[in-house]
Amino acid sequence: MSTILVTGGTGYIGSHTCVELIEAGHEVVVIDNLYNSNIHSLDRIKEITGVKPKFYEVDILDRKGLDQVFAENKIDAVIHFAGYKAVGESCEKPLLYYTNNIAGSINLYEAMKDANVKTLVFSSSATVYGAPKSVPIREDFETHTTNPYGTTKLMNEQILADVCAADPEWSVLLLRYFNPIGAHPCGLLGEVPNGIPNNLVPYIARVANGTLEFLRVWGDDYDTVDGTGVRDYIHVVDLAKGHIKAVEYALGHKGADYVNLGTGNGYSVLQVLHAFEKACGKELPYKIMERRPGDIATCYADTKKAKEMLGWEAEYGIDEMCEHSWNFTVKNPNGIE
Ligand code: WQD
Repeated sequence: MSTILVTGGTGYIGSHTCVELIEAGHEVVVIDNLYNSNIHSLDRIKEITGVKPKFYEVDILDRKGLDQVFAENKIDAVIHFAGYKAVGESCEKPLLYYTNNIAGSINLYEAMKDANVKTLVFSSSATVYGAPKSVPIREDFETHTTNPYGTTKLMNEQILADVCAADPEWSVLLLRYFNPIGAHPCGLLGEVPNGIPNNLVPYIARVANGTLEFLRVWGDDYDTVDGTGVRDYIHVVDLAKGHIKAVEYALGHKGADYVNLGTGNGYSVLQVLHAFEKACGKELPYKIMERRPGDIATCYADTKKAKEMLGWEAEYGIDEMCEHSWNFTVKNPNGIE
């Protein structure tokens, strides 16, 4: 059993990862500034696991707060989720994203170094691949970002690779998520976006519960099965379980490495919409609109490395992802409160 510090642990992926860490027998300490999450996620984690993680309301920009966490807890490894993650917002407010996602992360890495904690799992994103030359996408593909959010992910990867090159005592796994969706099957944890969702499935969920009128489909003239964008949607619980495998691997190895966390399957916008209609039992209205700037046609993972290196692969299919998302939406009309 190890003690894992989870930054951003009251957030969507962070809270699901806390559940899986506890159920795998680890001790969990959470820090979060609650900018984009609700402290009651901790009560939901307790309802599911029987354990309420130790919590510090700390911003990663607060060095003194970080030092206090490391001073008061014997941390074995860190899983770093804390960060802003809206592509569109990052284009409007780049300095906010570089300050929080880069300066804040460097603060965390400095605090780790000074506390002699040198094992880290970093929440990266398939967005670092930009428009891939082919699919499925392998970890050795070129990286290229097209928005400040994606650039902060790529910069963190480079910073951490340089830290590992300078100090061989560091162990870092850079996890490149594809499209996380869904919710814990019990309905107590799920995605609660601030305001109007940018991402597909949270938006569809709002159409399904009547709070949004129809889905805007951003383009149907891509070279795909039905002209709409294809992505690799991965259940958030599968993603969380990938983090358990990753942190346990990182605790036994040194150096930096990159791993895709995806299913290896691509689904179009309309295929996801129809899967959600099956889950909620009603027809969902949509309108075909112009393409969204910056979107790519197709993106899905080569999953070989995660399976061979971590012994992990996703298990849930798109129907269950939509069923669990809808179940959470119905049970939590006002989000987690
Ligand atoms: C998926 C597909 C859209 C909304 C981004 C980030 C990535 C990660 C996940 C944070 C595309 C279409 C969407 C809608 C639509 N974010 N769509 N109508 O853009 O693949 O990835 O979110 O970690 O890093 O890059 O996800 O859900 O926004 O879009 O037609 O209202 O759904 O065009 O084809 P994306 P998405």
